[in-house]
Amino acid sequence: MSRGVWMRLLLLLATAGITVPASAPDPMFGMISSPGYPVSYPNETESEWSLKVPQGYRVQLQFSYFEIEPSQRCIYDSLEVFTEGTSLGVFCGTVNGVLGNYPGDQLLISQNNSMNLKFKSDFSNEEEYVGFLAHYKAIDIDECSQTDGEDSICDQVCHNSLGSFFCSCRRGYKLQADGKSCEAQCEEFFDQVSGHLSSPEYPSAYPTKLSCNYSIRVESGFAISLEFVPPFDIEDHYEVHCPYDQLTVQYRNTQVGPLCGKVNPEPIDTQSNAVDIIFNTDGSGDNRGWKLFYSTDRIRCPDLMSVEHGTIAPWQDHYWYLDHVTYTCDVGYKIMQGEQELKSFAMLCQGDGSWDKGLIPTCQLTDCGVPEILPNGRFQTLTSSSVRNGYLSEIKYSCNERYQIETQGSGQYTCSMSREWMNNVVGVTIPYCAPVCGKPDHPLNRGTARIFGGSLAPPGSVPWQAFLTDRSRGERAGGVLLGDRWVLTAAHVFQPKGKARPSQEEMRRLRVYLGGTSVRRLVSGEGVPVELVHLHEGYDGLSEQYAHDLALVRLGRRVTLTEEVVPACLPPTAASALYAPALLGYVSGWGVTQDNRLADKLHYVGLPVAEQGECARAMERAQQAGRGGGSGGQRLSVTRGMFCAGTGLGLRDSCQGDSGGGFVVHQPESDSWFVTGIVSWGLGCGKEDTYGVYTRVSEYRDWIDNIMTTA
Ligand SMILES: *[C@@H]1O[C@H](CO)[C@@H](O)[C@H](O)[C@H]1NC(C)=O
Ligand SMILES: *[C@@H]1O[C@H](CO)[C@@H](O)[C@H](O)[C@H]1NC(C)=O
Ligand SMILES: *[C@@H]1O[C@H](CO)[C@@H](O)[C@H](O)[C@H]1NC(C)=O
Repeated sequence: MSRGVWMRLLLLLATAGITVPASAPDPMFGMISSPGYPVSYPNETESEWSLKVPQGYRVQLQFSYFEIEPSQRCIYDSLEVFTEGTSLGVFCGTVNGVLGNYPGDQLLISQNNSMNLKFKSDFSNEEEYVGFLAHYKAIDIDECSQTDGEDSICDQVCHNSLGSFFCSCRRGYKLQADGKSCEAQCEEFFDQVSGHLSSPEYPSAYPTKLSCNYSIRVESGFAISLEFVPPFDIEDHYEVHCPYDQLTVQYRNTQVGPLCGKVNPEPIDTQSNAVDIIFNTDGSGDNRGWKLFYSTDRIRCPDLMSVEHGTIAPWQDHYWYLDHVTYTCDVGYKIMQGEQELKSFAMLCQGDGSWDKGLIPTCQLTDCGVPEILPNGRFQTLTSSSVRNGYLSEIKYSCNERYQIETQGSGQYTCSMSREWMNNVVGVTIPYCAPVCGKPDHPLNRGTARIFGGSLAPPGSVPWQAFLTDRSRGERAGGVLLGDRWVLTAAHVFQPKGKARPSQEEMRRLRVYLGGTSVRRLVSGEGVPVELVHLHEGYDGLSEQYAHDLALVRLGRRVTLTEEVVPACLPPTAASALYAPALLGYVSGWGVTQDNRLADKLHYVGLPVAEQGECARAMERAQQAGRGGGSGGQRLSVTRGMFCAGTGLGLRDSCQGDSGGGFVVHQPESDSWFVTGIVSWGLGCGKEDTYGVYTRVSEYRDWIDNIMTTA
């Protein structure tokens, strides 16, 4: 290999560090050497190098070999090292040489990431000098130790790093966009359940020109409390309140402050889950600031007032978020919200510290309403409460005159919890006012034992007497009022002998008149319609016999009892005393009188009950003698369901038109009148040695009861 080629190769190597393509990153290390190295450098030569390492580093250069012609101040041959236009030194000389400026192991360090070197040699080199070999590498710059004019590189804290550095700020400050300046940072947000807040730098003096907003936000349903921790120190003025620096606490629609001075403020219970703490400072001052501790608790709802006549459960002095209360009223009281009655009432303490129901209910006394009207009766208030017909009020039902309570129980009712009028025996059923039977205001003169013929009945003396007529046909019959809805009469009134059984419609043609003694007067009134007629099933119209001659008429409405309308009593089934022979009874009617005319005024006659055997024999004898009887020649017989009354002496009797009317007797024990018989048949009227025959009512008591109770 020729020498010239070898040298060129060395040169290439030596300049490798500076001839890298611009796009490649700067190397972290490299090597340079003098021209011709390791052979002596040429005369009259000049070389320059520009070493570059990555940004943020410095170039550190060290010679591993150095031999340049020594001279005073290195004026002949030299290597000069520059950094940023200033010289780090001019070097020449040899190891152990005394002349020149031999660099030795010295580390040459650039100011930033580049270093320039300049080598020159003069024309005369009598000795041959090899030159130099140097290595360089990138070393980190500690930017933090540098200063940028007067100020340090970072406003507050500088952190050096390999090839770089960064700035940071103390707590309460924020690094600005320039990467070095710090500004007080007090737009802070707190969402923990508790924590500490303070002015920047606390307890050292807070910065000037602050405009801070510390926002505390906790979950809905929780309330924030603030407690200041001493020392508290905000610039104040002795005359004007907080003119310079101010601390205010804002929540809901409330603002506390501005606060300043040196007195630690009182704790603040905000009852809010959102609090802003605003701190503004002016351009001067040297005060320590403030610090506070915040904590949270469930938010509180407004305290409740106790309810009169009611209970709130659970009962507490205070209620918090999610607490639930139920209102109940005492027995006899109802929950009212305004005008509206509620079945129940409960409410919940909400997250915003309000109850979920706006209107608190009250307990009002319940009432049973106006007691039911008692037909033929009335009620009287025994005890009244503050509310009309209110809980525990007492009333007593009683019946009008001529009526009596038939149902059990005293008639006394109390307004119950269930808001019903309640009797301790019959419950809610109101009493029934039953007509009192058999007690006329003006009874017939019972003392007179013997009355011949008929007499006019004074008004109100036979008040059960009914008049039955079909006005168009002029038929008339009698009847006896039972209770206030029934009239007992004879079956043959509706189905005369020889006629087929009539329909209900036909039977309803009859009207019933009550409450008077004059037919003319009676029929001028409206009368009572017939609703239904029950003919005794055993009565046979086609037979000539009068067995079971009994009918019950249900009236179209109840009649009102008066002085002239009073029902008769029914005899009990076993009532032999009421049929005792010679017992005086009375029969009444508008039938044919002695002068053979139909009466307008009610007549009555007193007749003794006849001995049954004697009557049967007398009737038999009379028929044999041809004095009346069945038209078909059949003898009419007195049977079990009949009894006879009369003197057997004639004159006094019942007659046509009296049919269906009652035979009544007075029972002294009960002072009541009983209808023991219904006018049925006879052989002529008032004939000697005959009797009037009556349907024996006591025999039919079951039949009557059965119809009257099931209808
Ligand atoms: C090197 O640093 C100086 C200041 O120390 C600066 O003026 C110069 O521009 C820098 N040079 C390079 C290439 O970064
Ligand atoms: C440099 O010059 C000197 C004297 O003129 C001479 O002796 C020497 O050989 C030269 N060196 C080279 C390398 O040319
Ligand atoms: C403080 O910050 C809160 C939350 O960002 C905001 O709602 C409130 O308006 C701010 N107050 C002031 C005075 O800037």
